Amino acid sequence: MNTSKIIVANWKSNKTVHEAMVWLDAFSHLLSGESTVANLCRSNKHQIVLALPAPYLLLGLDIVKAYSFVKLAAQNVSMFGDGSYTGEVSAHALSDIVSYSLVGHSERRRWFGEDGTQIQAKVDLLIHAGITPIVCVRSIEDARMLILTQEMYIAYEPDESIGSGQNAPLSQVTSIATQVEGAGGFIYGGSVSLANVSDYTSDAHVNGVLVGRASLDPQDFYNLTEAALL
Ligand code: PGA
Repeated sequence: MNTSKIIVANWKSNKTVHEAMVWLDAFSHLLSGESTVANLCRSNKHQIVLALPAPYLLLGLDIVKAYSFVKLAAQNVSMFGDGSYTGEVSAHALSDIVSYSLVGHSERRRWFGEDGTQIQAKVDLLIHAGITPIVCVRSIEDARMLILTQEMYIAYEPDESIGSGQNAPLSQVTSIATQVEGAGGFIYGGSVSLANVSDYTSDAHVNGVLVGRASLDPQDFYNLTEAALL
């Protein structure tokens, strides 16, 4: 059984360049020396994935180089390939930089009208570019719209749990997990905190967590990651 976990930080649309640099420096420092988190990641093949706003992804390359268990993720990707699509970032363009990309986050579905067809197009382009999609679903119905393959992760994020402080009960999460077999991994997101993270990461059905608000401070995110992996 694969017991390694991924802990994903989703900064959403937050931070200036300077604030991003301060966060990355502080987090890098926390991982140095005899860091518990670094030791746990190295010995159990856990990964820490940083989903930064696109302009800051290049700033993350130093921490990725220093710590092989840290990976970068895009928060979104174009539904088209390279070409005349002003303002979009293609999977091909991201392929030298990131290992993962979020797709179909509930906020993209709500504010940008993303639907199942667009999300599937993005998934296909990412897989073709060698990037692992982390496809966010709000329900089992969203998951059923997708062609599930081993090359993707599913992130279950019920709308009512995102940013609300009301994390979903583990029983609800595992019930969805058992219905999306076919994906390469299953993670949970929605008000994940230091207090509740280990409920999810200690369950064999759950391969990790997607963390929004609690990832915005480097020390908080480090502490959460430690609690998740201990
Ligand atoms: P939250 O966000 O942890 O702030 O609830 C999670 C997400 O939307 O990915």
